[in-house]
Amino acid sequence: MNKDKIYLASDHGGYLIKRHIASFLLKEGYDVIDLGPDSEDSVDYPDYAHKLAQTIGENGRGVAICGSGIGISIALNRHLNVRAALCHNVDMAVLSRLHNNANVCVLPGRFVSLMQSEAIVHAFLNGIFEGGRHNQRIDKINQIE
Ligand code: RB5
Repeated sequence: MNKDKIYLASDHGGYLIKRHIASFLLKEGYDVIDLGPDSEDSVDYPDYAHKLAQTIGENGRGVAICGSGIGISIALNRHLNVRAALCHNVDMAVLSRLHNNANVCVLPGRFVSLMQSEAIVHAFLNGIFEGGRHNQRIDKINQIE
């Protein structure tokens, strides 16, 4: 049984997809930690992005969802330990692992169906980092003057 921990966070625009992904991941055998929110009431996505980034540290993995996926991606990627990839489809999820070693899969909650969201998250969590030339590129991401 897979007992990897997966951390989830969203805003109201991603709440329903988050709830669906939580039960999908539980069925897949993951240990799911839902960082909120707990309803569709309006919230501010940076609050949940920052909570997720601070919780996953260097080695954790997460799934984050807002309406477009854009706001929560921008907030997540302010954190040096995060490589959050906005994935509209399975190919993007695969590439985000292969080339970017992404540690947070971001879904655009208002632009994916429940079934698409499952397929994207499945591809992300099972994706493998290619390493090699991509290591030096990833190392340069945080090398800001
Ligand atoms: C919330 O209405 C919406 O702005 C948010 O979910 C997201 O799309 C922001 O980028």
